[in-house]
Amino acid sequence: MPASTPLAETGELVLGIESSCDDTAAAVVRGGRQVLSSVVRSQATLHAPFGGVVPEIAGRSHLRDIGPVIDQALAEAGVGLDDLDAIAVTVRPGLIGSLLVGLSAAKALAYARGLDLVGVHHIEAHAYAATMEHDVVFPAVALVVSGGHTALYRMENATTLELLGQTLDDAAGEAFDKVAQLLGLAYPGGPEIARTALAGNPAAIDFPRYRSKGEKASFSFSGLKTAVLYHLKGGDALAPTPAPADVEHKPDIAASFQAAAVDMLVRETIAAARRADIETVLVAGGVACNAELRRVMHERATADGIVATFPSPAYCSDNAAMIAGLGARRWRAGERAGWELDALAR
Ligand code: KG4
Ligand code: ZN
Repeated sequence: MPASTPLAETGELVLGIESSCDDTAAAVVRGGRQVLSSVVRSQATLHAPFGGVVPEIAGRSHLRDIGPVIDQALAEAGVGLDDLDAIAVTVRPGLIGSLLVGLSAAKALAYARGLDLVGVHHIEAHAYAATMEHDVVFPAVALVVSGGHTALYRMENATTLELLGQTLDDAAGEAFDKVAQLLGLAYPGGPEIARTALAGNPAAIDFPRYRSKGEKASFSFSGLKTAVLYHLKGGDALAPTPAPADVEHKPDIAASFQAAAVDMLVRETIAAARRADIETVLVAGGVACNAELRRVMHERATADGIVATFPSPAYCSDNAAMIAGLGARRWRAGERAGWELDALAR
């Protein structure tokens, strides 16, 4: 789904390739912002029976899908490989076997066609995504919240990030996925928790909310996850975990868990922005699809004179448009990767 950014038909043409986790994606972007195509092939149904991503299955599926997905992105954009200025590819962080599939494809195409290659950091690309569809006033505080990451950055501009703090244990998305599993909801759990929570009372259970101390931002979701488990065991840590089918009041549990998770994310983000006297907050990553997070973040930001910006859902979850977009900006700044470009898990 191309973003409807009214941009000129000029600017560099970049193919983005993303394969860091369980989505095989390719996109063509012009001028860093105008999305000509964005193809995402999800592996969710393959991993669903396991309640999480199985690295070996992910790598093999990327290998099968990467060629067709790239072909489709080029075809939908109506461009050929020789029209491109560069290929941008996710090189970190992620599952190493998965990253290597996208990187190898990018290198092969760039070598064969004499194209420039740019390596992109997946988390930086998530944050960049929030600047693709909207004109953002910098500096900004960016919250990147996904299945693998929960971190706050200070952004001087769309391409320069400085880490302010991150989760001490689980990522927020991971907590959504784990709680969904306990409740017997399908993987990925985030959207399922959100849907189930609609029928529940967010004040039904007072789950604990971690707060960072001092000046440094941080998050923690393992305590919340354990509190949900403890609640399901009826407050007796030694009691067996009930089968999902036997869990009562699922909507109340989902709504109360979601309220606690959202409250932690919003508080820490607004506090970081206030500390640095910053009036722009960007939120990106798969969990940024969450409607309650969007509502509460907008509400509390507005109360503090802060503007909160979210990408549209297609650019919150993993996609290659954000890789091509950030890659284009880096290419414009003169960045070129050599053939020694390597993938890194962290
Ligand atoms: O960014 P993403 O697609 O992949 C990673 O880089 O991890 O994020 C996936 C995560 C999953 O944990 C998924 O459950 C969560 O984002 N997610 C949501 C929602 N949609 C996706 N979490 C809460 N509410 C949602 N609506
Ligand atoms: Zn991601």
